[in-house]
Amino acid sequence: MAIAISCQHEPYPAPPGISVVDTSGTGGGDTTSGSAGKPCHPDTVYYRRDIQPILTASCAYAGCHGQGSSQDGVSLESYQSVMNANVVDPFDPGGSDLVEVLLETDPDKRMPPPPNNPLESPKIQLIQKWIRQGAQNLICDDCDTTNLRYNDHIRNLVAQNCTSCHGGSNPSAGRSLDSYAALKDAFLNTNLRARIKAASGVPVMPPGGPMNNCHIAKLEKWYQNGMPQ
Ligand code: HEC
Repeated sequence: MAIAISCQHEPYPAPPGISVVDTSGTGGGDTTSGSAGKPCHPDTVYYRRDIQPILTASCAYAGCHGQGSSQDGVSLESYQSVMNANVVDPFDPGGSDLVEVLLETDPDKRMPPPPNNPLESPKIQLIQKWIRQGAQNLICDDCDTTNLRYNDHIRNLVAQNCTSCHGGSNPSAGRSLDSYAALKDAFLNTNLRARIKAASGVPVMPPGGPMNNCHIAKLEKWYQNGMPQ
């Protein structure tokens, strides 16, 4: 049994801003531009989108299995740490300690232990499905345009697509886009929105061709929401 019971659980702290879909400015659940716009398959479990939020909310917090704590050598705060903990046997949920402790009926052995409730069965089933599919770290992007903020999403997106030219000491068109104020000004005082949508009659931005649809949709939605910082 790799996950033992020594972790003294307080009732859960409020999960720190967990979102089910990673909305980093790269367009979705990846840190590389390559997967931006890669659609999510409805039958596939995606670790970062589906599994990590469960573990983060219920297991991977300070004093237990995350944020510097790894009770019994088990940290559940990232894909790497989960796999390194040897609690998951790919393709075999029944042989995975992670599932075993979640299904444990003896409250002394169950994770999360009392006074916390057992993990809800839909979540356990999702973890089982993820393991059955090979416990992979798959990534997809279904373009979540909710709650976009400059600091959390838009800054990266612009850095990835625009500031190679619109940044530094000599920005293209004399127009820097590398701060909140500068970007807001460009939205309000230029034809930026028409350009990124490749509208007819204006030069497209970036000049090499439009961004993927998800990036365009995010910028437009962020603008419509009043450009929250
Ligand atoms: C490869 C360099 C390059 C990249 C990348 C690039 N731009 Fe530009 N941009 C230019 C150049 C050069 C001009 C001036 C010529 C023109 O107006 O088309 C320009 C002009 C503009 C203008 C008009 C500025 C004004 O004051 O009227 C806007 C708005 C703009 N870009 C927005 C963007 C946005 C948004 C991105 C990213 C999504 C982007 N650009 C990416 C080179 C670039």
